Amino acid sequence: MAAIIDGKAIAKDIRTELKEEIDAMKAAGTTPGLAVVIVGDDPASHTYVNSKEKSSKEIGIYSEVHRFPADFTEEALLEKVDELNRDKNIHGILVQLPLPKHISEDKVIDAISPEKDVDGFHPVNVGKMVIGKDSFYSCTPYGIMKMLEKEHISLEGKHVVVIGRSNIVGKPAALLSLMNNATVTICHSRTKDLAAITRQADVVIAAVGIPNYVTADHLKPGAVVIDVGINRNEEGKLCGDVDFNSAKEVAGAITPVPGGVGPMTITMLLYNTVKSAKAFAAK
Ligand code: GUN
Repeated sequence: MAAIIDGKAIAKDIRTELKEEIDAMKAAGTTPGLAVVIVGDDPASHTYVNSKEKSSKEIGIYSEVHRFPADFTEEALLEKVDELNRDKNIHGILVQLPLPKHISEDKVIDAISPEKDVDGFHPVNVGKMVIGKDSFYSCTPYGIMKMLEKEHISLEGKHVVVIGRSNIVGKPAALLSLMNNATVTICHSRTKDLAAITRQADVVIAAVGIPNYVTADHLKPGAVVIDVGINRNEEGKLCGDVDFNSAKEVAGAITPVPGGVGPMTITMLLYNTVKSAKAFAAK
Protein backbone atom coordinates (compact mmCIF):
# COMPACT_ATOMS: atom_id res chain seq x y z
CA MET A 1 0.00 0.00 0.00
CA ALA A 2 1.41 3.34 -1.07
CA ALA A 3 1.90 6.31 1.23
CA ILE A 4 -0.61 9.02 0.33
CA ILE A 5 1.02 12.39 -0.35
CA ASP A 6 -1.20 15.01 1.28
CA GLY A 7 -0.95 18.02 -1.04
CA LYS A 8 -3.53 19.93 0.93
CA ALA A 9 -1.47 19.73 4.14
CA ILE A 10 1.79 20.61 2.35
CA ALA A 11 0.08 23.57 0.65
CA LYS A 12 -1.24 24.76 4.00
CA ASP A 13 2.25 24.64 5.56
CA ILE A 14 3.75 26.64 2.69
CA ARG A 15 0.94 29.21 2.86
CA THR A 16 1.55 29.64 6.61
CA GLU A 17 5.25 30.24 5.88
CA LEU A 18 4.33 32.73 3.16
CA LYS A 19 1.95 34.60 5.45
CA GLU A 20 4.74 35.10 7.99
CA GLU A 21 7.01 36.36 5.25
CA ILE A 22 4.32 38.74 3.97
CA ASP A 23 3.73 40.11 7.49
CA ALA A 24 7.45 40.92 7.72
CA MET A 25 7.44 42.49 4.24
CA LYS A 26 4.45 44.65 5.15
CA ALA A 27 6.21 45.83 8.28
CA ALA A 28 9.12 46.84 6.04
CA GLY A 29 6.80 48.75 3.69
CA THR A 30 6.00 46.32 0.84
CA THR A 31 2.68 44.58 0.31
CA PRO A 32 2.88 41.92 -2.43
CA GLY A 33 0.23 42.64 -5.08
CA LEU A 34 -1.35 40.26 -7.59
CA ALA A 35 -3.59 41.24 -10.50
CA VAL A 36 -5.69 38.57 -12.17
CA VAL A 37 -7.39 39.29 -15.49
CA ILE A 38 -10.23 37.18 -16.85
CA VAL A 39 -12.09 37.61 -20.13
CA GLY A 40 -15.38 35.87 -20.90
CA ASP A 41 -17.72 33.75 -18.85
CA ASP A 42 -16.28 30.23 -18.69
CA PRO A 43 -17.58 28.97 -15.32
CA ALA A 44 -14.54 26.81 -14.51
CA SER A 45 -12.19 29.75 -15.16
CA HIS A 46 -14.27 32.01 -12.92
CA THR A 47 -14.13 29.39 -10.15
CA TYR A 48 -10.32 29.22 -10.46
CA VAL A 49 -9.99 33.01 -10.44
CA ASN A 50 -12.22 33.38 -7.39
CA SER A 51 -10.15 30.77 -5.62
CA LYS A 52 -6.91 32.61 -6.52
CA GLU A 53 -8.36 35.86 -5.14
CA LYS A 54 -9.54 34.24 -1.90
CA SER A 55 -6.23 32.43 -1.33
CA SER A 56 -4.26 35.63 -1.96
CA LYS A 57 -6.31 37.62 0.52
CA GLU A 58 -6.10 34.89 3.16
CA ILE A 59 -2.34 35.28 3.41
CA GLY A 60 -2.29 39.08 3.09
CA ILE A 61 -1.51 39.58 -0.60
CA TYR A 62 -3.17 42.66 -2.13
CA SER A 63 -5.39 41.24 -4.83
CA GLU A 64 -7.19 42.76 -7.81
CA VAL A 65 -9.41 40.87 -10.24
CA HIS A 66 -10.25 42.51 -13.56
CA ARG A 67 -13.27 40.81 -15.16
CA PHE A 68 -14.14 41.62 -18.78
CA PRO A 69 -16.92 40.40 -21.09
CA ALA A 70 -16.32 37.82 -23.85
CA ASP A 71 -16.35 40.53 -26.55
CA PHE A 72 -13.53 42.53 -24.91
CA THR A 73 -11.01 43.39 -27.64
CA GLU A 74 -7.43 42.19 -27.87
CA GLU A 75 -6.29 45.80 -28.07
CA ALA A 76 -8.09 46.72 -24.84
CA LEU A 77 -6.65 43.67 -23.09
CA LEU A 78 -3.12 44.54 -24.21
CA GLU A 79 -3.69 48.06 -22.91
CA LYS A 80 -4.84 46.66 -19.54
CA VAL A 81 -1.74 44.46 -19.32
CA ASP A 82 0.45 47.45 -20.08
CA GLU A 83 -1.26 49.47 -17.34
CA LEU A 84 -0.62 46.63 -14.85
CA ASN A 85 3.00 46.36 -16.01
CA ARG A 86 3.45 49.99 -14.92
CA ASP A 87 1.43 49.72 -11.67
CA LYS A 88 3.81 49.95 -8.68
CA ASN A 89 1.35 48.15 -6.36
CA ILE A 90 1.26 45.09 -8.61
CA HIS A 91 4.08 42.53 -8.57
CA GLY A 92 2.33 39.64 -10.27
CA ILE A 93 0.07 39.59 -13.34
CA LEU A 94 -1.93 36.56 -14.36
CA VAL A 95 -4.19 36.46 -17.39
CA GLN A 96 -6.47 33.48 -16.99
CA LEU A 97 -6.40 31.07 -19.94
CA PRO A 98 -8.09 30.09 -22.19
CA LEU A 99 -8.92 33.45 -23.76
CA PRO A 100 -11.76 33.94 -26.26
CA LYS A 101 -10.79 32.85 -29.79
CA HIS A 102 -10.49 36.39 -31.20
CA ILE A 103 -7.62 37.15 -28.78
CA SER A 104 -4.10 35.82 -29.37
CA GLU A 105 -2.88 34.16 -26.16
CA ASP A 106 0.70 34.39 -27.39
CA LYS A 107 0.43 38.15 -27.93
CA VAL A 108 -1.05 38.67 -24.47
CA ILE A 109 1.53 36.49 -22.69
CA ASP A 110 4.31 38.28 -24.60
CA ALA A 111 2.91 41.61 -23.39
CA ILE A 112 3.22 40.73 -19.69
CA SER A 113 6.44 42.04 -18.19
CA PRO A 114 8.66 38.96 -17.55
CA GLU A 115 9.39 40.47 -14.12
CA LYS A 116 5.68 40.20 -13.21
CA ASP A 117 4.93 36.94 -15.03
CA VAL A 118 4.09 34.88 -11.94
CA ASP A 119 2.52 32.17 -14.16
CA GLY A 120 5.95 31.55 -15.71
CA PHE A 121 4.46 31.49 -19.21
CA HIS A 122 6.47 34.31 -20.82
CA PRO A 123 9.06 33.04 -23.34
CA VAL A 124 11.80 34.88 -21.40
CA ASN A 125 11.00 32.93 -18.23
CA VAL A 126 10.58 29.66 -20.14
CA GLY A 127 13.93 30.28 -21.84
CA LYS A 128 15.66 30.98 -18.53
CA MET A 129 14.29 27.72 -17.15
CA VAL A 130 15.61 25.82 -20.18
CA ILE A 131 19.14 27.12 -19.57
CA GLY A 132 18.88 26.35 -15.85
CA LYS A 133 18.57 29.94 -14.63
CA ASP A 134 16.33 31.18 -11.87
CA SER A 135 13.04 32.57 -13.22
CA PHE A 136 9.33 32.22 -12.57
CA TYR A 137 8.46 28.57 -13.06
CA SER A 138 5.01 27.39 -14.12
CA CYS A 139 2.99 26.86 -10.95
CA THR A 140 1.78 23.26 -11.32
CA PRO A 141 5.15 21.65 -12.12
CA TYR A 142 6.89 23.89 -9.60
CA GLY A 143 4.31 22.78 -7.04
CA ILE A 144 5.17 19.16 -7.81
CA MET A 145 8.86 19.86 -7.18
CA LYS A 146 8.10 21.61 -3.87
CA MET A 147 5.82 18.77 -2.85
CA LEU A 148 8.52 16.16 -3.51
CA GLU A 149 11.04 18.30 -1.63
CA LYS A 150 8.70 18.59 1.38
CA GLU A 151 8.20 14.80 1.32
CA HIS A 152 12.01 14.30 1.22
CA ILE A 153 11.76 12.53 -2.13
CA SER A 154 14.96 13.40 -3.98
CA LEU A 155 15.04 13.22 -7.80
CA GLU A 156 18.85 12.91 -7.86
CA GLY A 157 19.73 10.14 -10.35
CA LYS A 158 16.12 8.94 -10.49
CA HIS A 159 14.29 8.08 -13.68
CA VAL A 160 11.34 10.47 -13.99
CA VAL A 161 8.80 9.64 -16.70
CA VAL A 162 6.49 12.53 -17.58
CA ILE A 163 3.34 11.66 -19.50
CA GLY A 164 2.18 14.75 -21.37
CA ARG A 165 4.04 17.51 -23.22
CA SER A 166 2.00 20.67 -22.66
CA ASN A 167 3.80 23.99 -22.28
CA ILE A 168 2.13 24.54 -18.90
CA VAL A 169 2.76 21.17 -17.25
CA GLY A 170 4.54 18.38 -19.16
CA LYS A 171 7.49 20.27 -20.63
CA PRO A 172 8.28 22.35 -17.52
CA ALA A 173 7.83 19.27 -15.27
CA ALA A 174 10.48 17.52 -17.37
CA LEU A 175 12.85 20.51 -17.28
CA LEU A 176 12.51 21.07 -13.53
CA SER A 177 13.11 17.34 -12.93
CA LEU A 178 16.24 17.61 -15.07
CA MET A 179 17.32 20.64 -13.05
CA ASN A 180 17.01 18.39 -9.99
CA ASN A 181 19.39 15.87 -11.59
CA ALA A 182 16.81 13.31 -12.68
CA THR A 183 17.09 11.23 -15.84
CA VAL A 184 13.99 12.28 -17.74
CA THR A 185 11.76 10.68 -20.35
CA ILE A 186 8.82 12.55 -21.87
CA CYS A 187 5.96 10.41 -23.17
CA HIS A 188 2.82 11.60 -24.95
CA SER A 189 -0.17 10.51 -26.99
CA ARG A 190 2.03 9.15 -29.83
CA THR A 191 4.35 7.17 -27.56
CA LYS A 192 4.46 3.47 -28.40
CA ASP A 193 4.13 0.94 -25.55
CA LEU A 194 3.80 3.53 -22.81
CA ALA A 195 3.61 0.92 -20.05
CA ALA A 196 7.03 -0.53 -21.00
CA ILE A 197 8.53 2.93 -20.43
CA THR A 198 6.62 3.91 -17.31
CA ARG A 199 7.49 0.55 -15.70
CA GLN A 200 11.11 1.75 -15.70
CA ALA A 201 10.21 4.93 -13.83
CA ASP A 202 11.12 5.72 -10.25
CA VAL A 203 8.73 8.66 -10.51
CA VAL A 204 5.74 8.95 -12.87
CA ILE A 205 4.21 12.38 -13.48
CA ALA A 206 0.88 11.91 -15.23
CA ALA A 207 -0.44 14.97 -17.06
CA VAL A 208 -2.48 13.61 -19.96
CA GLY A 209 -6.02 14.70 -19.12
CA ILE A 210 -7.56 11.25 -19.57
CA PRO A 211 -9.35 9.69 -16.58
CA ASN A 212 -7.70 6.59 -15.10
CA TYR A 213 -5.16 6.38 -17.95
CA VAL A 214 -2.32 5.12 -15.76
CA THR A 215 -3.00 1.82 -14.01
CA ALA A 216 -1.07 -0.56 -11.75
CA ASP A 217 0.27 -2.28 -14.91
CA HIS A 218 2.17 0.90 -15.78
CA LEU A 219 4.14 0.97 -12.54
CA LYS A 220 7.28 -0.48 -11.05
CA PRO A 221 6.67 -1.59 -7.45
CA GLY A 222 7.52 1.28 -5.09
CA ALA A 223 7.33 4.01 -7.75
CA VAL A 224 6.27 7.54 -6.78
CA VAL A 225 3.14 8.53 -8.69
CA ILE A 226 2.20 12.18 -9.19
CA ASP A 227 -1.25 12.68 -10.67
CA VAL A 228 -1.80 16.07 -12.32
CA GLY A 229 -5.15 15.18 -13.92
CA ILE A 230 -8.38 16.93 -13.00
CA ASN A 231 -11.09 15.02 -14.87
CA ARG A 232 -14.69 14.02 -14.36
CA ASN A 233 -15.55 10.33 -14.67
CA GLU A 234 -18.85 8.94 -16.05
CA GLU A 235 -20.58 9.60 -12.73
CA GLY A 236 -19.38 13.22 -12.78
CA LYS A 237 -16.96 12.58 -9.94
CA LEU A 238 -13.58 14.33 -9.86
CA CYS A 239 -10.76 11.94 -10.81
CA GLY A 240 -7.16 12.09 -11.94
CA ASP A 241 -5.19 10.56 -14.82
CA VAL A 242 -4.21 7.67 -12.55
CA ASP A 243 -6.44 4.76 -11.56
CA PHE A 244 -5.84 5.47 -7.89
CA ASN A 245 -7.32 2.24 -6.52
CA SER A 246 -5.12 -0.09 -8.56
CA ALA A 247 -2.04 2.16 -8.57
CA LYS A 248 -1.92 2.56 -4.79
CA GLU A 249 -1.40 -1.20 -4.40
CA VAL A 250 1.85 -1.04 -6.42
CA ALA A 251 3.18 2.48 -5.88
CA GLY A 252 5.42 3.52 -2.99
CA ALA A 253 3.80 6.94 -2.73
CA ILE A 254 0.94 8.54 -4.62
CA THR A 255 -0.94 11.84 -4.81
CA PRO A 256 -4.75 11.69 -4.60
CA VAL A 257 -7.23 13.69 -6.69
CA PRO A 258 -8.55 15.90 -5.22
CA GLY A 259 -6.10 16.92 -2.48
CA GLY A 260 -2.81 16.17 -4.22
CA VAL A 261 -1.23 18.43 -6.84
CA GLY A 262 -4.27 20.75 -7.09
CA PRO A 263 -3.76 22.73 -3.86
CA MET A 264 -0.08 23.20 -4.74
CA THR A 265 -0.77 25.12 -7.96
CA ILE A 266 -2.35 28.19 -6.35
CA THR A 267 0.19 27.97 -3.52
CA MET A 268 3.02 28.40 -6.01
CA LEU A 269 1.23 31.34 -7.60
CA LEU A 270 1.26 32.98 -4.17
CA TYR A 271 4.90 31.92 -3.74
CA ASN A 272 5.87 33.48 -7.09
CA THR A 273 4.00 36.69 -6.22
CA VAL A 274 5.92 37.01 -2.95
CA LYS A 275 9.17 36.22 -4.79
CA SER A 276 8.41 38.97 -7.31
CA ALA A 277 7.54 41.53 -4.60
CA LYS A 278 10.83 40.71 -2.85
CA ALA A 279 12.76 41.26 -6.09
CA PHE A 280 11.02 44.61 -6.67
CA ALA A 281 11.64 45.67 -3.05
CA ALA A 282 15.36 44.86 -3.42
CA LYS A 283 15.76 47.17 -6.45
N1 GUN B 1 -5.83 28.15 -16.93
C1 GUN B 1 -5.69 26.93 -16.38
N2 GUN B 1 -4.60 26.90 -15.59
C2 GUN B 1 -4.04 28.11 -15.66
C3 GUN B 1 -2.89 28.70 -15.05
O1 GUN B 1 -2.13 28.07 -14.30
N3 GUN B 1 -2.65 30.00 -15.36
C4 GUN B 1 -3.45 30.70 -16.21
N4 GUN B 1 -3.12 31.96 -16.47
N5 GUN B 1 -4.51 30.19 -16.79
C5 GUN B 1 -4.80 28.91 -16.51
